[in-house]
Formats: sequence, C-alpha cells, structure tokens
Amino acid sequence: MPHKKVLVVHYSQSGQLDNAIKHCIAPLADDKDISVTDLNLKPSEPFPFPWNLLDFLSVFPESVYCDKIPLEPFGIDKNEKFDLVILAYQVWFLSPSLPMSGFLQSAEVKEWLNDKPVITFIACRNMWLTAQEKMKVLIAKNGGILCDNVALVDGGNAFETFITTPRWMLTGKKDAFWFFKEAGVSKSDIKNSARFGKAVKDALKEGKEKSKEPLLKGLGAVNVNEKLIMSERIGHRSFLIWGKLLKKLGKPKSALRRFFLRVYLVFLVLMIVTVVPFSLLLRLLFYPLMIKKLRKQKAYYEEPSGSENYKEKNE
Ligand SMILES: Cc1cc2nc3c(=O)[nH]c(=O)nc-3n(C[C@H](O)[C@H](O)[C@H](O)COP(=O)(O)O)c2cc1C
Repeated sequence: MPHKKVLVVHYSQSGQLDNAIKHCIAPLADDKDISVTDLNLKPSEPFPFPWNLLDFLSVFPESVYCDKIPLEPFGIDKNEKFDLVILAYQVWFLSPSLPMSGFLQSAEVKEWLNDKPVITFIACRNMWLTAQEKMKVLIAKNGGILCDNVALVDGGNAFETFITTPRWMLTGKKDAFWFFKEAGVSKSDIKNSARFGKAVKDALKEGKEKSKEPLLKGLGAVNVNEKLIMSERIGHRSFLIWGKLLKKLGKPKSALRRFFLRVYLVFLVLMIVTVVPFSLLLRLLFYPLMIKKLRKQKAYYEEPSGSENYKEKNE
C-alpha cells in the first residue's frame, strides 16, 4: 500500500478532547504505512482554565462570529501534502472553539485542505449542531471536502449537564457529586472511539479516502437529539444579537464591554428562570406537531456519517 499521510489538528483545555482524539487515532498511529502529523494548536494568548465567570462569558462574541485569533506557528511545511485531515474541536457558545476557527482562517490551511477529505471530531457538552454548520462553511472555504463527522457528547441529561459542565469549566472539578454524574464524555465513549480510527485505517489501506465518501457509516458516529434543535436555534439567535452589541463596545478586556457583559449576565439569568421553563412547556405542547419536521432535520444534521451502528453491533 502506498504510504498515507494524515494531519490531525486539535486543541484542548482540560485534556478531554486530546484524550478522545488520541484514542481515536491510535490504530492509525500504530500502523507503519501511515504517518500521522500531530498539530496541537496553541493560541498566542492562552485561554485560562479553569475560567472565571467573566472571562468565560467574554469569549462568546468572538466565538459566535468565528473571529480569527493569532496562533503560534504550526511548525509544518506549508507545501506538505496530506491524504486526509482530521479536525478535532470542542464547541464554545454553539460555535467552533476560537483556536479551531483561527486555524481554519490561517494562510497555510488552504494548501493542506484543498480537495482533501476532512473528518471532523467533536467532544463537547451536547450542543454542536450550529458549530458544525459553521465548520462546514470554514472547511469549504479552504476547498476541503467534509466526508465524516464524529460527535462525542456528555451522557448526562440537559439539567445535569447544565450544572456539571459550568462547574467543571469554572472550578476545574469534573468529579461526581451529590446525585450528579461525572462531567464530560464518558470514559467508555472515549475508549470506544478507537473504532473510528480503525475504520479510517482500513479505508486508507484500500484507498477509499480518495472517493471522499463517508468512511464511518454504520459506526454510530453521531446521534442528534432532536429536542435540542430548537434550543440551539433560539440560543444562537440571541448570541448573534448580544455578540454584535458587545463587539461594538470594544475589545474583550475593555471596561465598557466588561460592564455590559455583567448586564448580559443578568439578562441570561432572567432568561434561564423565565423564558427557558416557558419554552420547555411550549416544546412539550408542540412536539407532537413538529415531530416530522424535527426528524427530517435530525437526519440532515446527522450527515454525512449517520447515527446507525450496525457495524458495531455485528463485531
Ligand atoms: C467558553 C466555553 C463555551 C462552551 N460552550 C459550549 C456549547 O455551546 N455547547 C457544548 O456542547 N459545549 C460547550 N462547552 C463545553 C466544551 O465544548 C467542552 O466540552 C469542554 O470545554 C471541555 O473541552 P476541552 O477538551 O477543551 O477541555 C463550552 C466550553 C467553554 C470553555
């Protein structure tokens, strides 16, 4: 088999995404006929972890508008040719995290992505649909062809993760407490992501990546919760409006913007205690009427890899 080259791009704060993508690509990294180029993105100005509340909120306008942030040099030859590119990213405010947005707007990237099959690999809380739509645009702008998407999410329900994810982000504590499960993607989901790497390895051996068709069908790569589709849409609309306003007020650290960020925080809390319960009630009432449309949207968001896992079950 001709030697195959894979570029894997990632960035992680707590190490969750790094760990997940490491498990995923292990079958590739162990193969002598495949070389994996590992690109760990480093923002020129590192983001804090754990975050304080205002810093956490302050990145939302730039995240939502996918601003280009400066990154440390990649240390990879601009003219390097890859057979496949894997972009591992986490979601920040329903958008690709800023390091990934910055990467996809860097000059070198067109050379690496143009006309190449691209796999996106997400590890986040549970809301990634809008972020993936933005990734599709950024990948297409570089001439890349999205052939697969894997999404690993926190297995807790919306209420649990609404508590455990911010606790983890703001304190660094991820452990189980009271009746809450440990935050983040489960250890077994992370371990099992090796099945994607194995499928990619087999596909590379047979030259299937050249077809730019999905390589990960039948492996349960994604599973869209249709109940979250409306929530993402409403949330994103509000992020766009507030994000535009906050960006107009100055740079993330400017005093005026920090002041209005506090106003936004009050708005957010009011929304959570008033509008969110009301919209949940509306969702319950109208769900039966919308089910057909939501199922169609679910199928759309699950493309290209799909949620079926017939291969996993057969193994
Ligand atoms: C600023 C910020 C915003 C986030 N927004 C979302 C979000 O909109 N949807 C989501 O599912 N997860 C969200 N998360 C969780 C991340 O996607 C991710 O699961 C978490 O940050 C751990 O990733 P790590 O590998 O960088 O540690 C957010 C995290 C941060 C830090």
